[in-house]
Formats: sequence, structure tokens, C-alpha cells
Amino acid sequence: MTSKTIAQIRNEAAASLSPKRQQQWEQFLTPMPVAEQAVGLFTPTDDPVRILDLGSGSGILSAVTASRSASGSSVVAIEQDTELARASESSLRQVCDDVEVINKSVFDVLLDARFDRVILNPPYKKISPTVISTSGGGVKVTNLYTAFLVMAIQAMDDGGECVAIIPRSWMNGDYFKDFRKWMLNECSLDVLAVYGSRHEHFKDMNILQEIMLVKMSKRQQAEKVTVYAEASPVEPLEDQPHESVALKALLMGRDRIVRVRQQDPRLSGFKTMADQGLWVSTGKLVWFRNRDVLSDVEDPNGHPLYWSDNQNGMMTLHPVECDREQWVTEKADTRNIVLPAGSYCLVNRFSAKEQQRRIHASYLHSGVEFVADNKLNYVHQGTSRHTVPLDDRVARGLTLWLSSSIVDEWYRQVSGSTQVNATDLRQLPCPSKAQLAVLADSLPVDNDVSQSRIDETIGRLFSWVQAS
Ligand SMILES: C[S@@+](CC[C@H](N)C(=O)[O-])C[C@H]1O[C@@H](n2cnc3c(N)ncnc32)[C@H](O)[C@@H]1O
Repeated sequence: MTSKTIAQIRNEAAASLSPKRQQQWEQFLTPMPVAEQAVGLFTPTDDPVRILDLGSGSGILSAVTASRSASGSSVVAIEQDTELARASESSLRQVCDDVEVINKSVFDVLLDARFDRVILNPPYKKISPTVISTSGGGVKVTNLYTAFLVMAIQAMDDGGECVAIIPRSWMNGDYFKDFRKWMLNECSLDVLAVYGSRHEHFKDMNILQEIMLVKMSKRQQAEKVTVYAEASPVEPLEDQPHESVALKALLMGRDRIVRVRQQDPRLSGFKTMADQGLWVSTGKLVWFRNRDVLSDVEDPNGHPLYWSDNQNGMMTLHPVECDREQWVTEKADTRNIVLPAGSYCLVNRFSAKEQQRRIHASYLHSGVEFVADNKLNYVHQGTSRHTVPLDDRVARGLTLWLSSSIVDEWYRQVSGSTQVNATDLRQLPCPSKAQLAVLADSLPVDNDVSQSRIDETIGRLFSWVQAS
């Protein structure tokens, strides 16, 4: 009955947002099909529930929740925009008698842990690292949505449930490491539903990130997490393909990276890159801080400089025709950016959406000391403080391994973004150095080698496919 009216209030609010405020406060309002799917994740109950909506916008999320809850339920909605707070009030008054809309920032409201249902689609903006205080001390957040989530999780009563519409970025990478560890300690992760194609679901909101639904609850970790790796809002979630997986099978490493699929069993026999003694570091040249050492011409005492432009298929070429300087002058020697001569595998840190592969690895053998731009990662066998080049065969074998389809698939399951993080790569399953050297002997690192040859050679080497 009222759903349509709530949807109308949402659509009118969406149409009348001031562009400046929309940008500033990230007012991307949830469309009704996504709201219904999110609310559908709450466990049905005949008991009245206390509902909390953080950054409530038009109030769509808590209103749909309240419309499906027993009479006697109550809602607290917090929204800092006065117009939207008013819209929240109108939506909520239609479905619930006990409504409090607080027109403030969520960070200025003291909330007790008394809510049975917490729902939110928070702003997604990056912020400078901030520690939010919690009962156990504090948790470092680098993004508004995780700051909201920390508040949401703390507001749950025992047995309470929280559903959030958030980007997928918290599941991997270094920035969200502290949040992940805190969150997984604090509550049970119950459902993950990643929307495959992001544009479709927030069509009128121009959202570019990969969005997902997460359901958590204030109880012991559930035995199985329900995972929808490619959800769509057009049909009920329960009719869509999903897996029930023990949380352990989704978590990786000490940084608690959360995957959306169980690992391909063909990779289960391998240790991680870090455990194989292969360390991923980020190139040390930040160009705008080192403008004065960049050079278009070779300085006899300077060094070659590598950018992602120098990656050419599986090879790394130098110098190349591009609009970036190909050398640094000898002044670079005082800046702690120069790497020792030897063999490495370079990996891009950013890929374009349209690029076929996320990971672009290229083999580098440099007979002289060199510098790598910080948009490149480089793999070596030292530590985070000390770079030690790879054995040449290992560098070549690793380039082939990182160019395989199975590795690209693995990475896509770990990360929804086009960035390639060193933290994630360190958790990548990888053959031993000796096996990588054998791989290098089996196939040249050469741009004439096709993808299918790389995949077949690797498959044969590790007995995934029968030798013909
Ligand atoms: C992504 S929108 C989602 C709105 C609504 N929950 C929905 O799903 O349609 C985030 C909302 O949070 C509000 N907001 C942003 N920062 C806030 C803050 N610090 N405190 C309260 N609300 C905030 C914005 O005005 C906006 O309405």
C-alpha cells in the first residue's frame, strides 16, 4: 500500500536535490527495488522492533523496514540535511506511529546499543584516517561509510541485525584492514550480496562504484555466510544463485581479506606469494615530489625510470616513446628511490575498466640501478624495507604465472575495483620459486606467447590438464 508513496517521496526528493549538496553530502538515494531487497535480508519476526536508519535521506530504508514490522515498532532516523529529514518524517509517518527524525550529523548523536534493526546507505566519501572510539578502544577508518558502519554495528542490541548498502571496497586492500578486523570480531557476517553491474541499480544516481548489500548481526559468527557473488535487484535474492560458505573459507591472511567466492580448488595447494618469499612493493617515485630529477635525456650518472608506459605485454621496454621522462638524474641517489640492478616482475597498480585483464605483469631485467614510478608495484625477494632482486628464472616464471587466466580470475574475486593492491597480491596463491623457475624453462616470456599457451603450460605443469 504505502510502498508506492514512499517510492514517490524518494523520487521527488531525488529530483529536487541541490547538485552542490548532493555532491558534498553524497546524497545518492536508494531506488525502491534495492531498498526492498536490502530490507528483505532482515529475519522476519512477529515482535515489534526498534529500527535505526543512519543518513536516512528520504527515509526509504527505515520506512520499508517499518512497513514490514509488527505494530508497536519504532524508528529513529538521523539525517543532517533539513529537507531530507523532512522527507524522512513524511515517509515514516505513513508506516509507523513511533518515529523520531533527528536532523543532525550521526557523529553528533549519542546512540545506545538498543536497536534490533539497523539499516543504512551511508555516504561513501574518503576521509583522512580517523579513529572512532569503540568500547574496545578505537578503530581507524579512512572512509565515511566505514565510519557509519562502526556506529551502526555498535548501535545493535544483542541479537540485533544490521543491513548496509555499501561499496565493495572494504573487503580487500590495506585501507580497510583495521575496520575489517574490528568488524569481524564484533559481529557475525551473515550475508554478502554483490551487485554485478553497478550502473543498473542506481540508474538515476550516477553511482560508479561496485555496490553490495551486507547483513551483519550481533551474535556469534553464523556457521555459514550466504554469498550472492552476482546479485541483481530485479528478482528476489532467494531465487538467485548463491553459496553458503563457512566464513573461514572466505577469509585470507592476517589482513582478513574477504573473498566473494571460495578459492578455486586448483589453487589450494599453493602458499601465498608472501609465504613463498616473494614481496610486493610499490615503486618509490612520486613524480610531483621529484619533478627536479626527471629527465628526457640520459644522464651518464643517472638511472632509467620505469612507468606503466614501459610495460609492453609481458616485457618491460626502455626507453619508450611516451610523454613521460625516461630517466632520472644522479640527484635521485639522495632520495631513497633507487632500486638495485637485477631481475624483477613489475605489476600495474591501476587498470582501466575496459582492459581485459586486471593484473598486468611484465618481466624486467635491469643491468643497472633504476627507479620505478609509484603507479607500479615490483616483486622482489626482500622485505618492505630492503629490496632484493629475484633470480632471473623466478622473475620470468612469476611474470608468466601472474599473466595466467586463473590468477586474473582470483584477483577479480578478491577485488571489485580496478586497482591492484600490493596487500592483496601478497595473499595470491603462488608456486614456489623452484616451480616458477621450471615454468620459465617451459615457456619464453615473449609477447608472441598466447594466453591459451600460458594457461595450458601452467595447467600441464601443475597437472590440471592432462599432457597430450
Ligand atoms: C547515500 S545517501 C542515502 C540516503 C538514504 N539512506 C537512502 O538510502 O536513500 C546518504 C545520506 O546521508 C546523509 N548524510 C551525509 N553525511 C551525514 C552525516 N554526517 N550525518 C547524517 N546524515 C548524513 C546525506 O544527506 C544523505 O541523505
